[in-house]
Amino acid sequence: MNPFDFSTGPDRAGSDSIKWRRYAGRDVIPMWVADMDFAAPPPVLDALRARLDHGVFGYADPWPSVLEAVIEGIARDHGWRIEPDWLVWLPGVVTGFNIAARAVGQPGDGIFTATPVYPPFLHAPAHSDRRLVTTPLVQNGTRWEWDWPATEAAVADGVRLFMLCNPHNPVGRVFDRDELTRIAALAERHNLVICSDEIHCGLVLDPATPHIPIAALDESVARRTITLMAPSKTWNIPALYCAFAIIPDAALRTRYKRAMAGIVPHVNVLGLTATEAAYRDCGPWREALIDTLRANAARVVEVIDALPGVATTPVEATYLAWIDCRDFLQARGIANAAAHFEAHGVGLSDGKDFGLPGFVRLNFGCPPSRLEEGLARIARAVA
Ligand SMILES: Cc1ncc(COP(=O)(O)O)c(C=O)c1O
Repeated sequence: MNPFDFSTGPDRAGSDSIKWRRYAGRDVIPMWVADMDFAAPPPVLDALRARLDHGVFGYADPWPSVLEAVIEGIARDHGWRIEPDWLVWLPGVVTGFNIAARAVGQPGDGIFTATPVYPPFLHAPAHSDRRLVTTPLVQNGTRWEWDWPATEAAVADGVRLFMLCNPHNPVGRVFDRDELTRIAALAERHNLVICSDEIHCGLVLDPATPHIPIAALDESVARRTITLMAPSKTWNIPALYCAFAIIPDAALRTRYKRAMAGIVPHVNVLGLTATEAAYRDCGPWREALIDTLRANAARVVEVIDALPGVATTPVEATYLAWIDCRDFLQARGIANAAAHFEAHGVGLSDGKDFGLPGFVRLNFGCPPSRLEEGLARIARAVA
């Protein structure tokens, strides 16, 4: 029996939600932007209420119990013991990797990332006058994998920063120890800094693929790594804007903080309040959520893989499914899958924005009944 109710959710239609406002007044189920249609965990809501009752919202620094909650949470959930000094607080993970892009190397240097990937990865190099260098991930059966020779050749092209997304949005992989060890070795050989976006690390659905922070592999990789984490995806509080970088190396941390100076604001106090409650008190909620997401993920694979011309791969982590529509598009002479599904009442993300046209991304972080309706509409759109 699930102690939390994920079978319904607050009505977001007509609310401030970016995800829902796009389709206001239209019969389109929004399954795009990566937030979930569930209320935040009860301990987060209680902590926010108590902080509101205090009534004063002056400038705040992260206080000792926030640090303790985060440090103990990461040790408990990911087996990585970090030091308080390593933490650099941020208003978001996108801010965090754009700062990394500015902090490492010089204008003109290369920044590597493997595609498809969360679109802001593709824009970060240009924001700091760096060059985007990419290599496609390759599909091996139902598993997305690294093309090691292509990756090695790509980073040899003047790359200074390796931007890793793990767990991976959108392909849903949790990279294993062997893959992470190979990335670490490659970074060592080419003297790269690694910026590892681990925002989805609390959302591992498959117990056979535990999340390993790349910086936890050994001290040598830790020294060259900026790890980005946040409570925002796991506990569904992204608009509270609280995230952090973990930078064990003092010199790299100083460079990073210098790139932030005068631009990046302090984290807002409600974000810090929610973060403390999330990491310390919301383990049971997370486990219950994951049960719901795991069942949703299985349902997506079951329905999509039974349809002609579309296919998906198992989701090891995240609440995002990556759907290959290329055969369907070709067979039907349709140019754009996302536009086609939208016309049939489902709002998905267009793979083109992730660097891989012909795919769509489906957000299944919603009550199972809504997912069922979305999948039924997809089935009708493909039929
Ligand atoms: C991989 C990844 N990084 C970062 C973000 C957004 O982070 P933030 O809202 O903290 O900037 C997302 C949101 O979908 C994401 O999937």
